[in-house]
Amino acid sequence: MTVTKLMTSMMVLALSAVVSVATASTIEERIAPVGAVCVQGTECAAAGKAAAASSGPRSGSDVFNTYCAACHGTGAMGAPKAGDKGAWKDRLAKGFNKTLANAINGLNLMPPKGTCGDCSDEEIGNAIKHMSN
Ligand code: HEC
Repeated sequence: MTVTKLMTSMMVLALSAVVSVATASTIEERIAPVGAVCVQGTECAAAGKAAAASSGPRSGSDVFNTYCAACHGTGAMGAPKAGDKGAWKDRLAKGFNKTLANAINGLNLMPPKGTCGDCSDEEIGNAIKHMSN
């Protein structure tokens, strides 16, 4: 075996290594799960932002119907009834923020956050506004 032949076969080996690396990354691209690649500024990134924006704070009626109606719909356990403006006026006389704080922390038989553990303060506030109107 001459030196030239040896060099040639080493180059072929090196080249085929480069080729196989390129092929591997191409295959990875092809088998990447759909939606895994989303570069900022592209259409898919914009779509993701729009979806996040539309899932903002839940409305007062959403939160009320899901979490508060069980007690505040009927006035169970002495809960001020939704739509009973007189009862809510008395509750809110101490100020909206104090009333909100009671709802967040719980008050006697009123459970903290009215059982909506993942509600934000804003969402609890929305539900109070919904019930007192
Ligand atoms: C398990 C029953 C129950 C559920 C569910 C419930 N509440 Fe209440 N809530 C009560 C009761 C009972 C009271 C009256 C507490 C008292 O004054 O002793 C009350 C009182 C309140 C008050 C008046 C607090 C004050 O300062 O006078 C607010 C505001 C309130 N609830 C908001 C909510 C909201 C918002 C939800 C839903 C996210 C909710 N509650 C869910 C039972 C409940």
